[in-house]
Amino acid sequence: MAPGAGATDEILVHGDPRLRLSARPVAPGEDLGDLPRRLLTGLREHDGIGLAAPQFGDLRRVVAVTDPSRPEQAPRILVNPEITERFGPQIPFEEGCLSFPGLFFNLYRPAGVVVRYHDRDGDQQTLRNDGVVARVVQHEVDHLDGVLFIDHLPRWRRWLLAGRLRRIQREAGKESA
Ligand code: NI
Repeated sequence: MAPGAGATDEILVHGDPRLRLSARPVAPGEDLGDLPRRLLTGLREHDGIGLAAPQFGDLRRVVAVTDPSRPEQAPRILVNPEITERFGPQIPFEEGCLSFPGLFFNLYRPAGVVVRYHDRDGDQQTLRNDGVVARVVQHEVDHLDGVLFIDHLPRWRRWLLAGRLRRIQREAGKESA
């Protein structure tokens, strides 16, 4: 059932097969409806720094990205984001994901990215960043292709996390029951 007005969207948790699907591009001129607002509300209520539409089970290529170094700035909505360049050294950063409650681990990714996207008004934008925003963009764009942050771990580290991942899935099952 669709959430009523004012209701908060449920964020899908690890184990939900919808997190593994590829999202489709937003067509030119397509009305995003209340998706941007839902993403911003989701970020605020879960104290997140990034969120992707597929985490609501909404398979459109739209993500919300905050800049934690600029808390006064509203989160950016990126429509059809495309990383056109990755640059700089591979650096570690402790990542979490709203679809994996309580799980945080260090992950190496390129320090910087250039991302092309459309803003909420449909205007083409380019963002170049080598700070936390670059990290959040890489994590969120992955979600649009059904890629999750655990996929970047070497096999042995994923093996070490297997028990915790099962627990996350089990807890999610209990909540929705
Ligand atoms: Ni995530």
